[in-house]
Amino acid sequence: MSSGTEWTTQSIQQIIDKLKHKPGAMLPILHAIQDEVGYIPDKAVSQIAESLLQTRAEVHGVISFYHHFRTTPPGRHNIEICRAEACQAMGCRALEQHAKNTLGIDYHQTTADCSFSLEAVYCLGNCATAPSIRIDDDIHGRVSLDKFDALIAQHQKEMKEAG
Ligand code: FES
Repeated sequence: MSSGTEWTTQSIQQIIDKLKHKPGAMLPILHAIQDEVGYIPDKAVSQIAESLLQTRAEVHGVISFYHHFRTTPPGRHNIEICRAEACQAMGCRALEQHAKNTLGIDYHQTTADCSFSLEAVYCLGNCATAPSIRIDDDIHGRVSLDKFDALIAQHQKEMKEAG
């Protein structure tokens, strides 16, 4: 996933025009825009609605039905917490509450400084070392509350060093 690539109405329209003739074009268009831009900008909703001869409400309906789609720019790092069975059995509920408290955000939100976004996910294929989270492309297992804090601190340090 892109983390907030620059976009223009023209670049969005190019994506739409390339896919709008496919059957069930709405989902491929939404996926392509999110892959390219990192989220679905509000302006894109109007463009999609016009291009597919649908209402903005219909486009919003699809976006809100699928948790995958975001309508705000993602943070620099995307944190996904596994909520599936094995991770639940190993305490992911406490972990997710801790993550929300620590970051000051709920699922599908981004911290005020745009450093982190928080998402729920249902199995990362890492059940043997539950509870598991993924930060960007890296999966972490046996994530205790302390380990979560250490991972956040490590990413904050790296961002500070990168400027
Ligand atoms: S249930 Fe969490 S990684 Fe599989």
